[in-house]
Amino acid sequence: MFWRSSFIVLSNICARCFCLKRFTLTKVLLIVILLSVISTIVSISFLNLRFGIARQRSKPPLPLSTCRLNSTISRSLLKRVNHQSKAGRHLGDRVLVMVESQYSKAGTKITHLLEAIRVEYKVEPTGKNLPTLTHLDKGKFSVVIFENYNKYITMDKWNRQLLDKYCSEYNVGIIGFVPSKPDIISDNVPGFRMVFEYGMKLQDYKLNMFSDVWRVTKAGQIYEGRLPGEWTVFHTNHSTYEPLAYSKKQTQKFSVSIEEDVNKPVVPVIYDHGKYDKIKRIIFGSALRFWLHRLILLDSLSILSNGKLSMPLERHIQIDIDDIFVGREGIRMCVDDVEALVTTQETIKQMVSGFSFNLGFSGRYYLHGSYEEDAGDKKLLEYRDKFWWFGHMWRHEQAHKFDEPYITLAMQQNSQFAKENNIPVKQNYAVAPHHSGVYPIHEPLYTAWRNVWDVKVTSTEEYPRLHPAWRRRGFIYKGVMVLPRQTCGLYTHTLFLSDYPGGRKHLDDSIKGGELFQIILFNPISVFMTHMSNYGNDRLALYTFESVLKFIQCWTNLKLLAVPPLQLALKYFEMYPEERDPIWQNPCDHKRHLSIWSTNKTCEKLPNFLVIGPQKTGTTALYTFLGMHPAIESNFNSPDTFEEVQFFNGNNYYHGIDWYMEFFPTPKNTTSTYLFEKSATYFDNEVVPRRAFALLPRAKIICILINPSKRAYSWYQHMRSHEDPTALNYSFYDVITATDIDPRKLRELRNRCLNPGMYAQHLIRWLDYYPSRQLFIVDGEQLKNDPIHVMHTIQRFLHIDPYFDYSQFLRFDPKKGFFCQVVSEDRNKCLGKSKGRTYPPMNKEEQLFLKQYYQRHNVALSKLLDKLNTEVPAWLEEELRGGDE
Ligand code: A3P
Repeated sequence: MFWRSSFIVLSNICARCFCLKRFTLTKVLLIVILLSVISTIVSISFLNLRFGIARQRSKPPLPLSTCRLNSTISRSLLKRVNHQSKAGRHLGDRVLVMVESQYSKAGTKITHLLEAIRVEYKVEPTGKNLPTLTHLDKGKFSVVIFENYNKYITMDKWNRQLLDKYCSEYNVGIIGFVPSKPDIISDNVPGFRMVFEYGMKLQDYKLNMFSDVWRVTKAGQIYEGRLPGEWTVFHTNHSTYEPLAYSKKQTQKFSVSIEEDVNKPVVPVIYDHGKYDKIKRIIFGSALRFWLHRLILLDSLSILSNGKLSMPLERHIQIDIDDIFVGREGIRMCVDDVEALVTTQETIKQMVSGFSFNLGFSGRYYLHGSYEEDAGDKKLLEYRDKFWWFGHMWRHEQAHKFDEPYITLAMQQNSQFAKENNIPVKQNYAVAPHHSGVYPIHEPLYTAWRNVWDVKVTSTEEYPRLHPAWRRRGFIYKGVMVLPRQTCGLYTHTLFLSDYPGGRKHLDDSIKGGELFQIILFNPISVFMTHMSNYGNDRLALYTFESVLKFIQCWTNLKLLAVPPLQLALKYFEMYPEERDPIWQNPCDHKRHLSIWSTNKTCEKLPNFLVIGPQKTGTTALYTFLGMHPAIESNFNSPDTFEEVQFFNGNNYYHGIDWYMEFFPTPKNTTSTYLFEKSATYFDNEVVPRRAFALLPRAKIICILINPSKRAYSWYQHMRSHEDPTALNYSFYDVITATDIDPRKLRELRNRCLNPGMYAQHLIRWLDYYPSRQLFIVDGEQLKNDPIHVMHTIQRFLHIDPYFDYSQFLRFDPKKGFFCQVVSEDRNKCLGKSKGRTYPPMNKEEQLFLKQYYQRHNVALSKLLDKLNTEVPAWLEEELRGGDE
């Protein structure tokens, strides 16, 4: 600004002077004086910037503190309520969410909240029949939520009776949100001994002091101010009801039919203890737009599920300050900022026991600010023992752009800097600039981390993706625990409160019940990332965190804690063991992932289709025939797992996608080359469809089905020829009829023999992920007898161009008894001895047993094929007709 205006003034003056016809001495003198004044001002301001002399500092804002609750009362009420009861034992831990439509906004808000707190749910539209509510003697759902409570009240008699019976018998509570009804003032709700009064504008919200519902929520707390939107309030005299909060009318939209004093408190949320009909309910007079309702919803889920859905009361907080020496001159921390950091750390410690800021550094930038800022850097090191520290590379660089030797060297240089400056780096923790190399995985980063800093924990926002934030999760990769990182709304460029994007109100709203408050509320473990610039300037991070933690203390009974990163990560994966296994996605499917993935990698080395098995159905024949096609390339053979890659099942998955991609050639032409992989163990493995879909959502899936009895027998023979001791020791009949009292090895063999043949149940699992148009079922008998026709249909399914005429390249080999590859006029190349073995036929007893065993599975398969509009194979028709093999 200053430069621009000086330049304009100067050029105006000069222009005027030069426009004069005659140059007088006075005018020349005037110009010289003016120029020297300007140059003096410019030099002073430059010196100020460069060396920080007399930098004008704004006064950093004071943290918010708006707690209304009298602290003495709150302490006496601060009892930790336990909602757990015996009734919860017979309940599953899912929630049934009844919505008006699959896409309704209010319903989506509810399901997002449930996802954020990691509660499983099932969404059902209200107009339809209820889903199955019980399984064996257990209730499937521990709470039922109605997005629109009126839909519960007006539910058809049959469904209503069914639901009420379930709720009263299994002690399952109902939560409902009552929206306003246009043009209706009030409703006498039949059967509920209650009047709903609609369309209210309310202000102030006082939580009932004495309710047992409060567990996370602090009883008796008061919110002052106008409440958002229109409300429904509840009037009742029945003793089953307990108001959970009281509010006041702001203005009256309609003239109210129920006579009452305007100042008399109204009830915007009510708890039905179930004295009337044995069903507990919590009814909200407005949706989740009001932040406090999200808090109350946590407690409602807890009490109404008999403690099944109670969240822990501890909240762990970690705050990283990354790049503590990185930042351009003028926005770095000075001595007073460092002092403020230490003072606030002490204040936070009072609220969050064990708390320390966690500082990340690149030594290259130490003492690279103004004189005043360099003093700040030195002060940080003077206080080095007050903080936790973690190291980066020497410079602020993105790991995915470098190879391992460079990363290692750069980390070693930084580690040397830490040693020279006695920086205590003891936390086994690190993060990567811009998340680079953490996810998608850049192997060299992990290797260097382990070797140089002994990193065991890191954090990222990028797994599985940045958005939506509530779905961020953790995973473990080769011993490094990756924690999900939360967003606190502070970035390197947010320096001053007055410039905060969206204005100060935006940040304050996030603190006072909004996004930041909810992140801590919903996540037992929160890791936040901030930067050095958030601690200089307006010290926005100090303002933000002190404020939000005070707000948490004010409104909740949560116990705030901090433990070192390693302990934190161990705790995280102890709480969420299901997150240990990563789920790899295609980095090219997400722009942000691609931008932090090494440029020398390509997603073109991933398969376009998979042949998934099951074993012994002709998968090797199909694999071989596909490989003959000029446009199709298969995976390279794996020396470890009988040539198959077997990536998506078993331990290979933990090697990551770089490892997987090494099994594929770089396609000569990406548009006309089709890569595929065949692993026959994929078909019946529980985890494979989910993993495959995450990485290859557009892949086509091919499976082969033969008579499951035949398959089981062929597999048994296969095991015998591989000299499996159990298969050698027991007859086929022994294996298939083994019971749960038989030796473990025999039972295991039985399961591996019989389970893959339950075709429908495995196919359904694949169809849970892949759309049916991406799935192709090959009739294995047809593949054996007429492979030319089968290869023709597969080419059509894959839309492969050019068409390859297999009739020229396959012919029946009478000696082998199967179709083989034509090598020359009188020579064929057949599959090895292990394919198309000769063994005695199954005996009658075995056939009969298996026929009965697979009966219901075959019926399910025929129904499924019917649904998929797929032709029923001849062998299945025969099985269902009851014909003999
Ligand atoms: P058998 O060896 O029991 O006869 P997979 O490759 O999935 O392990 O399947 C092996 C089975 O493929 C063989 O089982 C055989 O019946 C069948 N098959 C189908 N077409 C074949 C072919 N052209 N050559 C050899 N075996 C074939």
